[in-house]
Amino acid sequence: MKKLVFSTGAGMSAESGIRTFRDANGLWEEYPVMQVASHTGYLKDPALIHRFYNERRKQLLDAQPNNGHIAIRNLESMFDVQVITQNVDDLHERAGSTNVLHLHGELMKVRSTKHEERVYTLTRDNCETSVDTRDEYGDPVRPHIVFFEEPVPNFSAAMRLAQQADIFVVIGTSLVVYPAASLIDCVRPGTPVFYIDPKPAAISRPNVTIIAKGASEGMAELTEILKGMQ
Ligand code: APR
Repeated sequence: MKKLVFSTGAGMSAESGIRTFRDANGLWEEYPVMQVASHTGYLKDPALIHRFYNERRKQLLDAQPNNGHIAIRNLESMFDVQVITQNVDDLHERAGSTNVLHLHGELMKVRSTKHEERVYTLTRDNCETSVDTRDEYGDPVRPHIVFFEEPVPNFSAAMRLAQQADIFVVIGTSLVVYPAASLIDCVRPGTPVFYIDPKPAAISRPNVTIIAKGASEGMAELTEILKGMQ
């Protein structure tokens, strides 16, 4: 089976009711990113960070995977599908995608502040944390999110996946945050690349097929195209 690799951003989850970051009335309009999503911000006001991610988890609990997530899952019957996502929601997993690599962490997980390899998955009815939350060893926990100013541990694995892609699809990202935005540069020359986004950002790479639509509509159109590329 051909390797079909997706690189998804916040726009992938927009139709599930999850706010993007940089669209009009995006998340960063309400919360300055350096205050609630940076390492400095975390050190300065961890209580605010816990509240911010508690709020995003609440929003996620009411969200459902959209037809775009489901279309990606359905392509697993025709391709070896790998999803690389900048999103911290679990909608790809809840849609049934089996290979999902998170670059910026996972909203439903927290980790020990003393032993970062100790990662814990929160449940629907127990997903609020605070500076007083302790793990089983008595250590404080923090969101298992890659804050700005922190390294992106999964990026080298993501690069390898992009290099192996026979077909590469970018969905719903403004391509402004690195290193995620540079994944497309790892795709071998001549590999077909598709970009689904209603307001696509400029892409320097030649021969990219732009589908200027939302994730669900765009994935329906792309699925028809991919049927002839197996
Ligand atoms: N379907 C597909 N794409 C959409 C939709 C939709 N229904 N609605 C909006 N979009 C597109 C926008 O046009 C934009 O290009 O989604 C993109 C959202 O861009 P951002 O808000 O910048 O999100 P993203 O690119 O994922 O941000 C990258 O920045 O804030 C950090 O860590 C955070 O992972 C995030 C990273």
